[in-house]
Amino acid sequence: MHNPEQQRFLQDVIDGLSKPQPEIPSKYMYDELGSALFEAICVTPEYYITRCDIEIHQRHADDISRFLGTHVHLIEFGSGAGIKTRLLLQSLVQPQAYTPIEISAAALQAAADVLRFQFPNLLIQPLQADYTQPINLDALEICPRCKRRVVYFPGSTIGNFTHAQARNFLQRIRDICAAAREGVHAGLLIGFDLLKSPEIMLPAYADEAGVTAAFNKNLLARVNRELGADFDLSQWRHEARFNADEQRMESYLVSAAAQTMTLAGRHFKFAAGGDIHTENSHKYTLESFQAMAAEAGLKLQQTWTDQKGWFVTAYFELK
Ligand code: TRP
Repeated sequence: MHNPEQQRFLQDVIDGLSKPQPEIPSKYMYDELGSALFEAICVTPEYYITRCDIEIHQRHADDISRFLGTHVHLIEFGSGAGIKTRLLLQSLVQPQAYTPIEISAAALQAAADVLRFQFPNLLIQPLQADYTQPINLDALEICPRCKRRVVYFPGSTIGNFTHAQARNFLQRIRDICAAAREGVHAGLLIGFDLLKSPEIMLPAYADEAGVTAAFNKNLLARVNRELGADFDLSQWRHEARFNADEQRMESYLVSAAAQTMTLAGRHFKFAAGGDIHTENSHKYTLESFQAMAAEAGLKLQQTWTDQKGWFVTAYFELK
């Protein structure tokens, strides 16, 4: 018997695998093992994204904090367990409040505990919610002394959204900014990965040691574990592709042989070389990202980049 969440998972997998181009939604990659494997990806030599992002937070800490000003209410989309949140909070002058928004109660609690310890003067009020959905704006009214509301979305998760999803998402952030009290400035501090040579991007999504392969294949292992499917993991391999038309990296699982997988009484056939699409990571130019944000009503104020110029942290405000 499945609980409602597993029922949803089962239905999503069945629907995804029934499409002409079979797929499994990437959000299911992040179970406990998947989250640990993703942490491991972040320290592989090929995956430059996390290192560039951290470098930006270190090199430009003073400039970013000057730009955001004092008495910030930081609203992070994600749990904030990471080093970047701590670097930012450390560099801000008298930050007043911090609201991490995250779907997993456990991740939220753990991050809040760590930050409460390190920043005893900060009002920390976690909000358990799916940040890809509209957020209860009243829940953000926690800080009468704050002078600026900053929505913070580091990493390159925006790249995992389609352009339509990204635009909607930016519009909702614009609404959160617009709802700030009178006299309170509001803006968005967001990271995104720049379009660059496939020679750099391909290895980042298919590291030599096989951590990304293990991460991707864990999706099939999870479908086996939780939904009772019979994927033969030895017959699937990870593949990263660059889609030039869509300007994105794509991750696939490729079948090594003709095979049939059984899930909940249904049979799914895969040809040798047949594949399952598992993730998109869109890459932007500064101009293409700026145009998308402008459509959502956000105006670029400042950008910061790493020394190689591979990744961007950008600050936007309402138009
Ligand atoms: N947000 C990360 C990215 O798109 C997630 C990621 C890294 C990922 N490597 C991956 C997702 C491989 C699927 C497969 O960069």
